[in-house]
Amino acid sequence: MPKRLSEEESVPLSKIGVFDSGIGGLSILNEALTQAPGHHYMYLADSANTPYGEKSIEWISSRSLTLCSWLVQQGCEAIVIACNTATAQAIAQIRETFSKIAIIGVEPGIKPAALQSSKKIVGVLATQNTLASDKFKQLLASLLADCEFIQQAGIGLVPLIEQGQLSGPSINALLHQYIDPMIEQGVDTLVLGCTHYPFLEARIQQMYGEQLQIIDTSHAVVKQMCRLVNSAGSNLGSVHFYSTSNGQSLLKLAKSLLSPHQLDQAQAHTVDL
Ligand code: DGL
Repeated sequence: MPKRLSEEESVPLSKIGVFDSGIGGLSILNEALTQAPGHHYMYLADSANTPYGEKSIEWISSRSLTLCSWLVQQGCEAIVIACNTATAQAIAQIRETFSKIAIIGVEPGIKPAALQSSKKIVGVLATQNTLASDKFKQLLASLLADCEFIQQAGIGLVPLIEQGQLSGPSINALLHQYIDPMIEQGVDTLVLGCTHYPFLEARIQQMYGEQLQIIDTSHAVVKQMCRLVNSAGSNLGSVHFYSTSNGQSLLKLAKSLLSPHQLDQAQAHTVDL
């Protein structure tokens, strides 16, 4: 039994909203539950509309605002945009609209990748929309020109991951199609620029071994979240899952993807947004 803190000892827990087009943001929630388990998390998956990667910029911006409004109505005092595509296309508008809420975004980790690549040739696997965004182009332009970036849209990966396929012939074929040409061009470091892709990390590592180091920024994103919210002093947090398609299916996938985190008390809901 977790020790209940006295009134004086207890730090108010934060209610934190985490959203993505689907289950990708669970890779961020996984890290949040590791680094900061003592918060109330509301995970919102827009599964009825996944994937976002090839949708119009206008649609993504307006949809992201709708999801954030809902999270704010539920009492969230911080929101993690656990989606590179939504961050790239909508974070400026979200920050402007919800100026009193701490907003944490994600972006492809090309800076750490450039530092870590010994050949200075980095592969970036992300959605079409993330790679085409002004935000990503500005990020690339902010780096020294001593590193080459080979960009590849991971079209088709997200729908498979949404079905819980993290290995198998279809995933393998797409990974070969996207990563083999990078290896031929000398890539030694691969940025996972979509929050769905960390669930393929083990598979990618199995396929390419030591020749490829993988960069995933979940750890840094959650560190930033911790800087912006109350530090929770207890382990009495909670997780609620919300899906625009099917809450129970989301909970089932979350239980397998977030293991060994204990989600016995987690609740699941389907929401019509
Ligand atoms: N997981 C999201 C991202 O980080 C969205 C992927 C998609 O829906 O296409 O970009």
